[in-house]
Amino acid sequence: MSWSPLLPFLSLLLLFPLEVPRAASASIPQVSSEGAATCKAHDLCLLGPRPVPPSPPVRVSLYYESLCGACRYFLVRNLFPTWLMVMEIMNITLVPYGNAQERNVNGTWEFTCQHGELECRLNKVEACLLDKLEKDVGFLTVVCLEEMEDMEKKLEPCLQMYAPEVSPESIMECATGKQGTQLMHENAQLTDALYPPHEYVPWVLVNEKPLKDPSQLLSLVCQLYQGTEKPDICSSIAKSPRKVCYK
Ligand SMILES: *[C@@H]1O[C@H](CO)[C@@H](O)[C@H](O)[C@H]1NC(C)=O
Ligand SMILES: *[C@@H]1O[C@H](CO)[C@@H](O)[C@H](O)[C@H]1NC(C)=O
Repeated sequence: MSWSPLLPFLSLLLLFPLEVPRAASASIPQVSSEGAATCKAHDLCLLGPRPVPPSPPVRVSLYYESLCGACRYFLVRNLFPTWLMVMEIMNITLVPYGNAQERNVNGTWEFTCQHGELECRLNKVEACLLDKLEKDVGFLTVVCLEEMEDMEKKLEPCLQMYAPEVSPESIMECATGKQGTQLMHENAQLTDALYPPHEYVPWVLVNEKPLKDPSQLLSLVCQLYQGTEKPDICSSIAKSPRKVCYK
């Protein structure tokens, strides 16, 4: 699979990860008709309606393996752009393991991966990134790796971009050592405990339910979010009769 048509678009997004529009909640509070109605004389009506407690974000979990083409496609072209659009209402969990298998050999876990040894190594690298980095930074760094051809060589530049204070050596030490094995074993347990079990990868859960049509991710997240203040994109896709197109 060729990633080259994506690169200009993605590098632009990756270079400006924090420049995305925020939800309406970030804008200046306004006096809504609802707020005015509940306001009595002499109240500080300009502050608008009392803030409601924030609703929990929609949970999106991706069970995947590092070298599977469809996983990379989903992560880079679907999950990542969706996160850029509605990150404030989404809580993403990545579980690198996928169709790997583990067995206990004399007290240590050994893994066999669908795409070979390299995939097992990269699964551990990503598990270590997700464990050691702050949540959004870990996600961005994994997306950065997954969009590259030679992921092993790209650990350094991807860390440089998102977590320059973390050395690639510390991540490799984790990935090749006991900690990487332990993290992978935990991911194996999470994956094996799935009910219903995963049928293929990428296996995506939205609020713990399998998502069968990945193109519905954005609209489903918008729909499931219980908060009253949704990101603007949610109302524009709700009004539009057409499907949202990521191209
Ligand atoms: C996101 O989910 C994780 C576990 O699934 C949880 O520990 C964390 O508190 C959640 N974050 C938010 C902001 O809800
Ligand atoms: C497990 O350990 C035993 C005793 O130390 C050894 O004889 C055996 O070869 C080991 N098995 C494997 C698969 O490494």
